Amino acid sequence: MGWDGIVSSTSKRLHVITWGCQMNVYDSGRMADVLAPLGYAPTASPEDADMVILNTCHIRERAEEKVFSELGRLRVIKQAREAAGLRTVLAVAGCVAQAEGQEILTRAPYVDIVLGPQTYHRLPEMVARAARAGGSVIETDFPAEDKFDHLPETAAAQGVTAFLTVQEGCDKFCSFCVVPYTRGAENSRAAAPVLAEARRLVAAGARELTLLGQNVNAWHGGGDWDFAALIRALADVPGLKRLRYTTSHPRDMGDTLIAAHRDVPALMPFLHLPVQSGADRVLAAMNRKHTADDYLRLVERLRAARPDIALSSDFIVGHPGETDADFEATLALVRRVGFAQAFSFKYSPRPGTPAAGAPGQVPEAVKDARLQELLALLRAQQEAFNLRTEGLTLPVLFTGPGRKPGQLSGRTPYLQPVHIDAPLALIGTETDVRIARAHPNSLQGTLIREKMLA
Ligand code: 5AD
Ligand code: SF4
Repeated sequence: MGWDGIVSSTSKRLHVITWGCQMNVYDSGRMADVLAPLGYAPTASPEDADMVILNTCHIRERAEEKVFSELGRLRVIKQAREAAGLRTVLAVAGCVAQAEGQEILTRAPYVDIVLGPQTYHRLPEMVARAARAGGSVIETDFPAEDKFDHLPETAAAQGVTAFLTVQEGCDKFCSFCVVPYTRGAENSRAAAPVLAEARRLVAAGARELTLLGQNVNAWHGGGDWDFAALIRALADVPGLKRLRYTTSHPRDMGDTLIAAHRDVPALMPFLHLPVQSGADRVLAAMNRKHTADDYLRLVERLRAARPDIALSSDFIVGHPGETDADFEATLALVRRVGFAQAFSFKYSPRPGTPAAGAPGQVPEAVKDARLQELLALLRAQQEAFNLRTEGLTLPVLFTGPGRKPGQLSGRTPYLQPVHIDAPLALIGTETDVRIARAHPNSLQGTLIREKMLA
């Protein structure tokens, strides 16, 4: 009988496909929230869906082509449903929608709605307009009103670990990056609604919150409210055990935030702090406005405040103008810092960004070779980091069932995934675990039984 028996005839089904960053995962949730009052409930399959949203990401290579090929697949489903007398509203959201806009409707005229990340709160109105007009709707302007003010207060429960967007956009204009063009200017959400949403998420079962923003540590709430103050206020939410945030720019890592890493126990000792390159020439060409030495000194200050802090980063190899010596400087920085994990990318031009038209584009084969070398070094560092936790007893936040029956998954304070034989009742608790074995990407642990029996 399935769904048909229990869903009333007026209810509709929504299927959301999410690509890209955690910000998109969060946005997909909020789009589902704004559509819920219109009767849309989630479905896992696009074949059943009255509305399909493809939430896209522009960061990766050939992002547009990936979108058009997925749209081709969805078109087949839409046509099959049409033949059966069923309508499907097809919406493209996210950064590719923002960047391509009209181009999407030109190449894929069967798309009903194209909306940029700043206009999600207007989705119900767009759905109504698409239904009335029978044509397509495009909304990719940066509206004067604040998107954050118009999102509903009923954020859906996300589980033990939840994301909370506190900031969006970026004014930094790194040479290679589309974010300032797709997500618009830096914009912080006010402290009161952030705290209110945090309390709701914790009431719904969240024990760990990850604060999201493209430049999250640039958050400011007016007056004395800087990002460190927000973290201190959130740490006081009863029931909340852990706080994380991502992504940060080195230039916005101020004294108060470093002090919060020293003073706030809920703030986890893990920081994703992209450096992109270890060569000052390249950093200048990237418009990063910091040197390799600035980054190293920042790491020293962070480690002075919180000696066990685990560091993560993003790297780009083959930015226009990058020489062998520049790449060596990146490897040298990696050796100096010692990362717990990292993401590395080959530079890939984004139309409209300064680096895309810059001289000194690096041949693909050179980029490939540099990427492999950097990945090998970073992989070795990650393995070494995981190995150092072998034999330690660490508090693990259990987030859900593991892959095998009887297993749970969880995370250490350093964000390492842990698999362990443990009862389901421990989900949502932070429990001491002895790390029995380190693998390259995860840890195996055993419960500290004495504590459990005590
Ligand atoms: N080419 C390669 N990597 C990029 N990133 C952003 N834009 C590009 C690009 N054009 C990487 C950066 C950023 C991460 C999210 O993606 O390292 O920090
Ligand atoms: Fe892009 Fe980050 Fe640079 Fe902003 S700071 S332009 S989001 S890479």
